[in-house]
Amino acid sequence: VKFIIDDANIKAIKHLYEYFPVDGVTTNPSILAKSKRQPYEVLKEIRDFIGEKADLHVQVVSKRAEDMVEEAGTILERLGQNTFIKVPTTAEGLKAMKQLSKQGVGITATAIYTPMQAFLAAKAGASYAAPYVNRIDNLGADGVSSVKRIHDIFQKNGLKTEVLAASFKNSQQVLELCAYGIGAATIAPDVIEGLIKNDSVKAAVDAFTKDFEGLCGEGRTMK
Ligand code: E4P
Repeated sequence: VKFIIDDANIKAIKHLYEYFPVDGVTTNPSILAKSKRQPYEVLKEIRDFIGEKADLHVQVVSKRAEDMVEEAGTILERLGQNTFIKVPTTAEGLKAMKQLSKQGVGITATAIYTPMQAFLAAKAGASYAAPYVNRIDNLGADGVSSVKRIHDIFQKNGLKTEVLAASFKNSQQVLELCAYGIGAATIAPDVIEGLIKNDSVKAAVDAFTKDFEGLCGEGRTMK
């Protein structure tokens, strides 16, 4: 399962790249708005930091297919051909996906709330389909089960599209989908940090330190 950072804060991205096994960055217009900076300035900084080969997913804002395709061209020109174009899975979005996939562009179908949207996006040529786990939960449905179903639909139909599960709010949602072997998960920094936060682990490590220092003296290690 690829782990992608769902954020545009360069400080947070650098920190997570230092400590966690992460594989790229996704953004959306709301995430970019939080930076209060010019979108391409922020995205260029991210691209320069993660390198030209790493996964970077950038969303189009237009509503009409023709404009989405044009926007995709500008994004690729400014951020590199390896950039995945996030396209909302509306009817116009599907039309844009069909055109972009013919041009060989990497597409991430986004704003997915139903397995049918994911199936159509996959058939339209998306490389990734991004179902919104927590937002589906908030509708009173089961986000994790929807993602599993989408994964199964892709496999049963021989579709190469990978699931890029999104909108996580807790570790359990992430773990369950890792256990299921989905393609990728895009996760906000606080949720990534939470994946490893555990008071029992901290207590165990503190006890090891205390015992060792009792033996060899304060601040001593195996160095
Ligand atoms: C990713 O494609 C989505 O834009 C993002 O994960 C949505 O997350 P949110 O529900 O926390 O806004």
